[in-house]
Amino acid sequence: MKIVSDAPALRAQLADWRRQGQRIALVPTMGNLHEGHLSLVRMARSHAERVVVTIFVNPTQFVKGEDFDRYPRTPERDATMLRDEATDLLFLPSVATMYPRGLDETTRVQVPSLDAILCGEFRPGHFTGVATVVTKLFNLVQPDVAVFGDKDFQQLLLIRWMVEDLCLPIEIVGVPTVREPDGLAKSSRNGYLSDGERHSAPMLYQTLKAAAESAASGVVDLARVELEAMTRLRESGFEPQYVAIRSAADLGTPADGEVGLVILAAAYLGKTRLIDHLSFERSLR
Ligand code: PAF
Repeated sequence: MKIVSDAPALRAQLADWRRQGQRIALVPTMGNLHEGHLSLVRMARSHAERVVVTIFVNPTQFVKGEDFDRYPRTPERDATMLRDEATDLLFLPSVATMYPRGLDETTRVQVPSLDAILCGEFRPGHFTGVATVVTKLFNLVQPDVAVFGDKDFQQLLLIRWMVEDLCLPIEIVGVPTVREPDGLAKSSRNGYLSDGERHSAPMLYQTLKAAAESAASGVVDLARVELEAMTRLRESGFEPQYVAIRSAADLGTPADGEVGLVILAAAYLGKTRLIDHLSFERSLR
């Protein structure tokens, strides 16, 4: 596995592979890799001859007061895991490479209809930071295909829409959430949880499952289902930001008769912000 951190070295290697007619798959990450990331790498491998993984803890997607400084940075361990997955290239850019004119001065990319709802309401600017850095990574690597976890449901939809809006010739592939045996979605932030919090954490998924089951079975008052789920989370020690049942197609309020829905939630457990979601089909009576 090649490890590069500057754009010219990255481009030289990619040009060489392209000359040989090889397809390139990109897996953007912020590092501190776990089994969920490795499932993205494996998916990438099934789509292309060459797999490029990027690790960059992107400052512009962290809101003031969030965990940018303490976000776990484990590049050596990550590199070993990626080597074991036969990754071809690991790109580890610096902030200066990604933001040559500074963080505040950088050109930004925004997907207006998804930017300020759900997680965007509680993390203002977060999705603009994501869309901006992913566009930069796409321009640096120019992959044929890019692979993202479905765990960040809103992020994945935003990236799909951004690619469509900007006419980028990149296939976006989503990979299902990888969970711990007790149902907790794998996340780099799970490492922040104390033993007690880790014990309670699967309640987030269990609550969403129970709420999705009532909504799927035809309960029409979705607002009541959301409120009950919020109450259940509070009773289990969470501080929920939101629980929302939305159209899986565009994250809008479900239309009457719309079948494909998703329930999404974000909640603090102590100082750790957890997110999860569950897609389901509602039966219409
Ligand atoms: O999902 C993530 O890890 C990040 O938001 C991403 C897509 C790598 C952009 O920094």
